[in-house]
Amino acid sequence: MQVGILSERAPGEHRVAATPQTAATFIEWGWQVDVESGAGDAAGFPDRLFTEAGANIVDGKTARGADIVLCVNAPEALTDLKSGSILVGFLDPFVDADLITKLKDLGVTALAVEAIPRTTLAQSMDALSSQANIGGYAAALLAANSSPKLLPMMVTAAGTIPPSRALILGVGVAGLQAIATARRLGAVVYAYDIRPETAEQVESLGAKFVAAPTQEMDEGGYAKEVGEDTQAQQHAALTPHVADADIVITTAQIPGRPAPLLVTDDMVAAMKPGSVIVDMAAGSGGNVAPSKPDEMVNVNGVHIYGPTNLPAEIPHDSSRMYARNLVALLERVKAEEGVNIDLDDEIIGGTTITHAGEVNHPRSRAMLGLPDVTAAPAAEQPAPVESSEEPEEAEGDTE
Ligand code: NAI
Repeated sequence: MQVGILSERAPGEHRVAATPQTAATFIEWGWQVDVESGAGDAAGFPDRLFTEAGANIVDGKTARGADIVLCVNAPEALTDLKSGSILVGFLDPFVDADLITKLKDLGVTALAVEAIPRTTLAQSMDALSSQANIGGYAAALLAANSSPKLLPMMVTAAGTIPPSRALILGVGVAGLQAIATARRLGAVVYAYDIRPETAEQVESLGAKFVAAPTQEMDEGGYAKEVGEDTQAQQHAALTPHVADADIVITTAQIPGRPAPLLVTDDMVAAMKPGSVIVDMAAGSGGNVAPSKPDEMVNVNGVHIYGPTNLPAEIPHDSSRMYARNLVALLERVKAEEGVNIDLDDEIIGGTTITHAGEVNHPRSRAMLGLPDVTAAPAAEQPAPVESSEEPEEAEGDTE
């Protein structure tokens, strides 16, 4: 099998889908690895390290023409992908109808990492979680860097500075990491999630759970969309906490729905000048009324950030985690001879968007208005954990 590793073209994308270490794993499997020249440069993996690991450095067309093509974001030059090849990456499979239609028509087997079922069995492949984890960390750093205040309390000869107060809204993977990071930086941290069981997780990280409405999850284990009454109660309960916060980081989402509005214009208006908000959900509608994707909005001295690709700001380690997620996924399709796309397998069936000229995934079929003839396993809510990554094995000096 020939594996192609693409150089990412999207503005601000610094990640890469393989590292020298994961390239070496594929080579151990007997596969050939072709890395597009410069693919790992921005993540700190220059071509030389891939060559030392046994990979070939090739041009983009050659990488795109491989049997298995690994990317972070889908390539623009789709026609270089060959029929029967496998494309693995963030493919926006339930939103980007045009891309999914093109991949189907090209006869490409598309494995979208967003569709990996969020089950215990698939945890090592769960790229959404590994990247959200880094995103939560990066959001806390962005807030800390942008704040005019210190985060820790400082007792100095020049007087005592009280600690900053941080409020984290949404306590899934990203939220837990944002809490942990803000705590490590010395802030006093408050947090809230609609799911009542997160209170214990918040407290186990040394933060305080904010008393605001909670409700039970749906059968799939996800938070349910809240009604207008509950939302109004949430806003009322959160208003004084938002007003008191120096830093607010929002990470609330309900899969497949627009992000819930947690911070209204009025709540922002009541904040102190110099306060900072990072809305991690700005790319999917926003948790904060005035936030805008990839912009900083200044409302009366409150700086509101809406970054949409925080993991790309920490490209070395986000690439290492993502690349390892892909190894775990490919290990599942690896067969005695080449690969086997087993649509009956819970993980592979759930992740395969297009295969053999058909759209396989029910949600992608629904997006395209196609009848629901196949059934992919329902995704489950993972138990939110601070880090879904196992401690890494010692790596050589190559990374
Ligand atoms: P997750 O699904 O693990 O956590 C989301 C949390 O929001 C859940 O705990 C859920 O109970 C909670 N929630 C849902 N509705 C709520 C409501 N009305 N009030 C309070 N809490 C509510 O998601 P994950 O992986 O932590 O991602 C969080 C968000 O961050 C998503 O919108 C995701 O797309 C985004 N994200 C953004 C990145 C960036 O660079 N901006 C990077 C990675 C993720």
